[in-house]
Amino acid sequence: MTTPEPALPPKLPPIVDERLPALLAAMPKAELHIHIEGSLEPEMIFQLAQRNGIALPYASVQALRSAYAFTDLQSFLDLYYQGAGVLQKEQDFYDLALSYLARVATENVVCAEIFFDPQTHTARGVAMETVVHGLARACRDAQARHGISARLILSFLRHLSEREAFETLEQALPLREHFIAVGLDSSELGHPPEKFERVFARCRELGFHIVAHAGEEGPPAYIWQALDLLHAERIDHGVQAVHDAALMQRLKAERIPLTVCPLSNQKLQVFPDLRQHNLKALLDAGLVATVNSDDPAYFGGYMNENLHQVFAATGMNAGHAWQLAANSFDASFAPAADKARWHQQLSEVFERFATR
Ligand code: HPA
Ligand code: ZN
Repeated sequence: MTTPEPALPPKLPPIVDERLPALLAAMPKAELHIHIEGSLEPEMIFQLAQRNGIALPYASVQALRSAYAFTDLQSFLDLYYQGAGVLQKEQDFYDLALSYLARVATENVVCAEIFFDPQTHTARGVAMETVVHGLARACRDAQARHGISARLILSFLRHLSEREAFETLEQALPLREHFIAVGLDSSELGHPPEKFERVFARCRELGFHIVAHAGEEGPPAYIWQALDLLHAERIDHGVQAVHDAALMQRLKAERIPLTVCPLSNQKLQVFPDLRQHNLKALLDAGLVATVNSDDPAYFGGYMNENLHQVFAATGMNAGHAWQLAANSFDASFAPAADKARWHQQLSEVFERFATR
């Protein structure tokens, strides 16, 4: 799928700088890059550990939180997989996802496309149905209670083998009505997309949307592979694309969305100083970039905090805000009627914030 051409940007009403933070919070937006296991807050890790009779190697919530000082992607992943070990029952997955969705609904996230990592759980003896049923029930309930549109993306762990990815797909197929897309995450360097070409070919035949993490820490070559070999419709992260002019042209021409995660990039030392983040450059180059939280419990902020901090650090304006929200709807896998409604809501919010 190529992301459809957006409606022509409306002539934006003038919005003064002081109103920008409130506008960022108020505008409707889609979150397209959130790992549900990465929304597991330290407090919930302790609650679930107690509920499930699991001993933790940390004395307190505070001690756990202070271990969140990352030097790179792998140093984060080691703690992220350890934290996910408290998720055992269907109710645990339900509570996790419902708590994320209820929270971001208050941030005016109207659509969330949520990654889950089944291999992190099946490797510990948790059944695939336990994971998927808990998450899918939370998506349904969140829609009913909070009006948020929520869908699941099954993500393969790239540090594991092709064979294990195929086995995971087999296990998940009886539950296929509950997820709309497949993705690729975990340790990027040394695990290029080409390793999973055949798995993703099979997923395409089955009719799933395709996304892949690429160009977070890895080189532009991994983004090319995600496009050419996996046929990814969106690139998760993709910030390393700026080092390859031909790739930038391709991403722009084909309107391939990038799901950018500013606070993640800062905390994992991709851009240790948010002022150096290239989101504004990506948008100004005409790419379909979006803002997302990745693993908000670990990186210090949910959707709106990501927007606030990256805007404050890079000096983006209300035009960038509109573009980001519009991009997030265009890049989502939601039905066209939903996208049209969210675009309309976006226009209304901008009108409300206008200074005239
Ligand atoms: N990159 C790769 N794998 C991940 C990430 C990420 O940012 N978050 C959770 N799994
Ligand atoms: Zn991610």
